Amino acid sequence: MTELTFRKTEEVFRRPDVDLTTRLGSITFPNPVFTASGCAAAGQELDQFFDVSELGGIVTKSIMLAPRSGRATPRMAETPSGMLNSIGLQGPGIDAFLDKDLAWLHQRGARAVVSIAGGSVDDFAKLAARLRGQKGLAMIEVNISCPNVEDRGQVFACDPMASASVIQAVKRSAPAGVPIFAKLSPDVTDITAIARACVDAGADGLSLINTLLGMVIDTDTMRPALGGITGGLSGPAIRPIAVRCVWQVRQALPDIPILGMGGIRTGLDALELILAGANAVSVGTTVFGDPSAPIRILDELAVALAERGFGSVAEAVGLAHRPPEVHVPEGPDPVGDTDPEPQQEDEQ
Ligand SMILES: Cc1cc2nc3c(=O)[nH]c(=O)nc-3n(C[C@H](O)[C@H](O)[C@H](O)COP(=O)(O)O)c2cc1C
Repeated sequence: MTELTFRKTEEVFRRPDVDLTTRLGSITFPNPVFTASGCAAAGQELDQFFDVSELGGIVTKSIMLAPRSGRATPRMAETPSGMLNSIGLQGPGIDAFLDKDLAWLHQRGARAVVSIAGGSVDDFAKLAARLRGQKGLAMIEVNISCPNVEDRGQVFACDPMASASVIQAVKRSAPAGVPIFAKLSPDVTDITAIARACVDAGADGLSLINTLLGMVIDTDTMRPALGGITGGLSGPAIRPIAVRCVWQVRQALPDIPILGMGGIRTGLDALELILAGANAVSVGTTVFGDPSAPIRILDELAVALAERGFGSVAEAVGLAHRPPEVHVPEGPDPVGDTDPEPQQEDEQ
């Protein structure tokens, strides 16, 4: 079946005949390209560039219980191959979000992945409970990369026990049958320990990765560039870290669905994360410079899969983990130096 896709730009693109459907927990999505939380609000702004219901899903900006104005300005700084942000979870609060944003996504026919964030386990449980019975909700992404106000401001996602407490509470309160994904921070020594704790606590899948903590100092003012002093680093600069995290978690937990993100700018970048083990990907920072990027990346991914002979995206998930092909030389050993090259075991 070949599908004709009409762009609002009147460009016509014939997507290759590749099965793009992907399964995240109990839900099958029509394709594996999503937006990333915080980079496309709830999709309304992107809808003037392309039909947002064409994406696998729209991951909304993390929502908290109450409206929140966020951190001091400036909140963005440029970095080599990326950006630093300290938005501080600005948002309208859950009630306004449900009335306006989720209702719009539902009416638009888009699959909403609602990202929730809290300062305590109880906040997360209340947010999850508010999502019961909401139309248009496809999945919940639990942003545990925020400080726990009840525990010295320590980030939930940096501690396996704190991460597990949040996921357990969300699982108990959330609507039945809606997959719960825990969004992890790469700012930890062993991301697989956090991943395992979340899965043991009931997470149906994992979103990897959130931004990395960074800082920029303006050499003219000789002060931190961000009002919030530190911020989250995102964009192409973090892609190798995202690939590494997805790889490690796929290896540790072979059967857990992964939504991968970090610096995806092209279909090949998306394919790289899929080969590392992601079942689907989110497109974040790239959207600020190229609002059509998610749909372009979907088209490019379909072409890249077809060019490599894949009949479906599922065949490519985690494929980079297969053992290297062993070439057995035919005939007698060549004369001379037959010692294999010494394996480099360490990066340093
Ligand atoms: C401006 C900005 C705001 C973000 N807000 C959120 C957020 O509210 N919740 C969340 O889980 N991640 C948030 N993120 C992280 C992204 O969802 C994503 O995990 C990260 O930026 C890596 O992907 P990217 O390099 O494609 O942007 C934000 C990122 C940026 C750049």
